[in-house]
Amino acid sequence: MAKMWAGRTDGVTSKIADEFNSSIKIDSRMYKQDILGSMAHASMLSAKNIISKQDADILIDGLEGILADIESGKLEIDLTAEDIHMFVEQVLTERVGEVGKKLHTARSRNDQVALDTRMYLRDATEKVVEKIEELLMAIIGQAEEHKASIMPGYTHLQRAQPITFGHHLMAYAMMLFRDIQRFIDSYERINVSPIGCCALAGTTYDTDRRLEAKILSFDSIAMNSIDGVSDRDFCIEFSSNCAILMMHLSRLSEEILLWTSWEFKFVELSDAFTTGSSIMPQKKNSDMAELVRGKTGRVYGNLVSILTMLKGLPLAYNKDMQEDKEGVFDSYDTVSMCLDVLAPMIKSMKVIKENMLLASQKGFINATDLADYMVKKGMPFRSAYKIVGSIVSDCIKNGKVLEDLSLEEYKKYDNIFEQDLFNEINLNTCVEKRISLGGTSPKSVEEQIAWIKEQLKNV
Ligand code: ARG
Repeated sequence: MAKMWAGRTDGVTSKIADEFNSSIKIDSRMYKQDILGSMAHASMLSAKNIISKQDADILIDGLEGILADIESGKLEIDLTAEDIHMFVEQVLTERVGEVGKKLHTARSRNDQVALDTRMYLRDATEKVVEKIEELLMAIIGQAEEHKASIMPGYTHLQRAQPITFGHHLMAYAMMLFRDIQRFIDSYERINVSPIGCCALAGTTYDTDRRLEAKILSFDSIAMNSIDGVSDRDFCIEFSSNCAILMMHLSRLSEEILLWTSWEFKFVELSDAFTTGSSIMPQKKNSDMAELVRGKTGRVYGNLVSILTMLKGLPLAYNKDMQEDKEGVFDSYDTVSMCLDVLAPMIKSMKVIKENMLLASQKGFINATDLADYMVKKGMPFRSAYKIVGSIVSDCIKNGKVLEDLSLEEYKKYDNIFEQDLFNEINLNTCVEKRISLGGTSPKSVEEQIAWIKEQLKNV
């Protein structure tokens, strides 16, 4: 069958060219946005007397019917069609006759596809923000419960200083909060209407772009028609937001994998979020966390793909741009699934605080506190640092930890030591005293939780 755009050519293309050219498998998910956009277009055309009110009513009725039939399953999207825009227009014309052919007045698929994608990504942004919030609340729940649970804090994956598990988790809460901010911030740049830019140059019809944008709840409109059809920055930003979010989820997943290993055993995941091995009966694997970490690669890939696809394109629309949606949608689907699985997984995970405490008692994580103790008694920090270094070194040789030495033994290193040093290197004291803003003390963790909750109210 000849294409709707037959004219200059006979519109009869080879089957392989059709398959290659078609984007409907990817863009069919925008059917609703496409139909709502067309309804708004018909309204605007009649408001400006470009088509009659009667024709507009027929178009809008027809479009409403198509939408209802797709949603009820009565109308199946034809996956051999060129794209969702052509499919809807073709079905409309089949259903309402000649009037259907008036819909595409003062419009091009170039502004239409940009419109649909922006409308789709507006919804996607809202949904992703909701899902991030859910994970954030799961994290905050665990942080609240474990604001005083002591664990070793690491740098270079070496035990560094005692922290609270709640404090550690709240670091992830901060990352996710920034992700929410990023998605919300970019929403403003998605929410710009390109419709009415037409093919690239605007139109000779007396259209009302502002009216059409208003019907579709856009806050602003593209002010340059060439930019309106060429701009895919909003897709890049969405992909970039997803990539940064995945990086955070992947770091969290990596830690969960470490914590659930026998070597750490800080955390146990609910059976509902683990798998077994087909051969090793003892295995309980954290596959979900591994998959989140693994899927991060494809989300990064999607960002690089779209950046690369666009970098050499002359203005305005080029067919290369049809390649924009697959990656963007894949990133959306991937982050959605990852958030959906992580939220209940974090909520239901069991924190084995005894093991965290045990790990904290080894590894000299209170060495800084011992040095600080000496400084508070008047010694310069560098000198204290050196003495504590040699105490640690001797302890390692003798298989001891700082708490094992007697006051007499301490005094051999320096006379500054008194009985109160033992309180100073007690792990509970170490975390409770770190009351500096943003620090690890339970009180500070409480403040961080309150701060995030307050910020979320304004989202
Ligand atoms: N399927 C196309 C896309 O996704 C729609 C726009 C086609 N425009 C055109 N001039 N061929 O980009």
